[in-house]
Amino acid sequence: MKKTENRGRRSAFLSQWRLFFRQFVKHPGMIGSIIPSSATLVKRMLDPVDWHNTRLFVEYGPGVGTFTQAILDRMHPDATLLAIDLNVDFVAYLEAQIDDPRLKVVHGSAADVRRFIREAGHVQADYILSGIPFSTLPDGVGEGIAAETNAALRPGGAFLIYQYSAFVRRLIDPLFGDVRGEMEWRNIPPCRLFYAVKADRLAKAA
Ligand SMILES: C[S@@+](CC[C@H](N)C(=O)[O-])C[C@H]1O[C@@H](n2cnc3c(N)ncnc32)[C@H](O)[C@@H]1O
Repeated sequence: MKKTENRGRRSAFLSQWRLFFRQFVKHPGMIGSIIPSSATLVKRMLDPVDWHNTRLFVEYGPGVGTFTQAILDRMHPDATLLAIDLNVDFVAYLEAQIDDPRLKVVHGSAADVRRFIREAGHVQADYILSGIPFSTLPDGVGEGIAAETNAALRPGGAFLIYQYSAFVRRLIDPLFGDVRGEMEWRNIPPCRLFYAVKADRLAKAA
């Protein structure tokens, strides 16, 4: 790699971190972290996804796009990535930075995911990935997002969550048939991962 290319990448990386940190200082409860997720965490969350059969992938809380580009890199050419963020500065940043017709960035809350899916011309999502800090959300918001997410997924679809606390488990356990929790230490701070699969009606009836 040329020196100028290297310098360009470093300055893009630093500007992402600066924007992320500034937003954390302004809205600590909404952002929930000082720096973006690590490359190891991104890979670990995305590895179990069945990319070949995914046509709608939804991302909650894309921030500066740490997962967004990695999702697009793996996604089918005919698939859509719907990224929803409550922070308007992150939405503007992503729209300016990523030019990919498969990406739709919307400003709003994950609590309205079903409306955003309808407006994007889809019925249900195959996967929903969340970086939202559930433990610091205002009362009742997390419960609402968990229920809407369950309704927005197709049977057999999965809710993938990365979090610094295990708080979210009490919201997803009653809704999802199968929840697996793991830990990723190579992230600052170390992070909990949850893979929650929506029960498949046919499998349930069997
Ligand atoms: C910990 S940051 C994750 C950023 C990025 N995905 C990463 O891994 O580095 C949390 C993100 O969730 C967003 N957020 C918080 N509450 C939200 C909500 N109700 N709906 C959508 N996004 C939300 C914040 O604006 C922020 O972008």
